[in-house]
Amino acid sequence: MTRTHAYAPSSELLAQHGDVEAGAGLVDLAVNVRADAPPPWLLRRLAGVDLAKYPDPVAARGAVAARHGRSAAEVLLTAGAAEAFVLIARAIKPRHAVVVHPQFTEPEIALRAAGHEVHRIVLGPPFTLVPAAVPDEADLVIIGNPTNPTSVLHPSGALRALARPGRLLVIDEAFADCVPGEPDSLAASDEVAGLVVIRSLTKTWGLAGLRAGYVLAEPAVTAALAAAQPPWGVSAPALEACIACSSAEAVAEAAAWAQRMVIARAYLLDRLERIDGVQVVATPSASFVLVHIDTPDPRAALRAKGFAVRRGDTFPGLGQQWLRIAVRDEPTSTALANAVKEILCQTSMR
Ligand SMILES: Cc1ncc(COP(=O)(O)O)c(C=O)c1O
Repeated sequence: MTRTHAYAPSSELLAQHGDVEAGAGLVDLAVNVRADAPPPWLLRRLAGVDLAKYPDPVAARGAVAARHGRSAAEVLLTAGAAEAFVLIARAIKPRHAVVVHPQFTEPEIALRAAGHEVHRIVLGPPFTLVPAAVPDEADLVIIGNPTNPTSVLHPSGALRALARPGRLLVIDEAFADCVPGEPDSLAASDEVAGLVVIRSLTKTWGLAGLRAGYVLAEPAVTAALAAAQPPWGVSAPALEACIACSSAEAVAEAAAWAQRMVIARAYLLDRLERIDGVQVVATPSASFVLVHIDTPDPRAALRAKGFAVRRGDTFPGLGQQWLRIAVRDEPTSTALANAVKEILCQTSMR
């Protein structure tokens, strides 16, 4: 289902992210990185980088290409996924750009900042992709998979159905490695014309401050985006992280983490689904769940009980009663569910 009269946040709210929610004394369920810090082996690798030299991306490009079965010319390393959105907005001149919402808002912000008009396709619950909702004239389409904040994983077939001659189809796979085996990832798909896959090291490796990510696309597209990039824009430690996190051992470590996260997520889902007044978006696929809570301002109520959660009212198509909640360990999920129950109980007594 898509919605034409969906909730629309102000431009100020559109630019707000989960990191502003967390604060001293609060349990942080707002930020969606997997760990507080990168694993020790990765920190050691980063500490060994020679900072006196200008960064040379050749080895990192090769490592990322090998990890996804692509050629080096199909890889562009970026300062996080966020830079990739800015490069697309600067290098591409779309006539009809479409962003499928609710999703991470930086792609839309980057397009608008570069002077492009953005057409929103707003999916309604349960946030299933309807390829026919994307108009034929769209020559740039941006969609997340799995999507932040809905946690919905769109089937690769539905995404492929969005590809068209003359269209750039951008899939933000920042959370793809939350899905064991990544069956719906298109990162290795070099046969889909106009496909641009964006990946990030931020979430899985706890590297938000490093700024490391990359684009996988046909060589003409990576070259066009590279031309919009500042010189040496990806630092030597970020390049080292790209090499380290592309190794078979690192990929296996991420896959094992994803398996554990799936179990922890099932526990959180089970706790929340038992509560009257809570609607959980079914079959989440990322390291967070999206919930609708039947009380006027659930975010403020949870803050008062010591939990920072990600507000939903910064996302087109959601609103104040929607919250994104990060998957954490069982005691944390139990405590959160108890707090939600108490809030709903107080609401019903008013
Ligand atoms: C879906 C999605 N894509 C991309 C990003 C940005 O990732 P990076 O830190 O690699 O710029 C985020 C950050 O929250 C995100 O949620």
